[in-house]
Amino acid sequence: MTFFFNLAFVERPIGIFDSGIGGLTVAKAISKHLPNERFIYFGDTAHLPYGDKSKDAILRYAKSISNFLMANNCKSIVIACNTASAISYEFLRDKYKGVIPVINVIDPIIEAVVADGSHQKIGLIATKTTVNSGVYHEKMARRNPTIKMEVLATPLLAPMIEEGFSKDKISHTVIENYLSNPIFEGIDALILGCTHYVLIRDEINEFFKGKVKLYDSTDIVALKMKEIFKNEDLLSSKKEGDNHFYVSDITASFQESTSRFYGGNIKLELLKL
Ligand code: DGL
Repeated sequence: MTFFFNLAFVERPIGIFDSGIGGLTVAKAISKHLPNERFIYFGDTAHLPYGDKSKDAILRYAKSISNFLMANNCKSIVIACNTASAISYEFLRDKYKGVIPVINVIDPIIEAVVADGSHQKIGLIATKTTVNSGVYHEKMARRNPTIKMEVLATPLLAPMIEEGFSKDKISHTVIENYLSNPIFEGIDALILGCTHYVLIRDEINEFFKGKVKLYDSTDIVALKMKEIFKNEDLLSSKKEGDNHFYVSDITASFQESTSRFYGGNIKLELLKL
């Protein structure tokens, strides 16, 4: 009996959520590293950007999205957004303790930076809310207080990327303006602390002439999930059914942008929570 229950449980979908479509970069990495899993993605496009929302508002959104994912029998929840991870992870982790694993995009990056062992001074770029939460500093100080971390809020980047500006004059100017900030002088690594920034990773790499190691929340997070699923016997052996991509508000521009964030054609479905 237990066996059948377990079998059904591992075949349940993974719930993934973000403020919008940026988290699709994480979903894409999950589908690459965990091809037998199916997922339910929820992009809270009606409330984006989370990056300049209050803690209260983000927590409220995260609660209602996780209720929706749980009502759809998800076997795990991935907070595919740095801002929502910074604000809502502890709450969701405690709420679902012993029920399902909740995964955020910050801890796996901190773990990877510390495991590298070579970093002395690192930079972080993220939304205002993520930076102001102080969560990256806190987590890094707990794991390795000798690594110096310089943080900068880069609020123009997410909307710039969403509007399709990359590898052009505008993106070049904005990136250069932010990254030439003197606080980043001498960094040996940079954390791309927003799921959107993956799309300008190459440009950031060019800015630093390949001399600064970049960390983002795609492969690192997906591989961490694989490890957690393995340890907790949650890996599915066969993908049962299709992925679903829900958004709380739909526009032609969101639909168009999905191919840049996810690669390939996906259909957004409207779902107002
Ligand atoms: N995707 C969000 C993050 O990773 C940023 C976008 C937003 O501000 O909503 O922080």
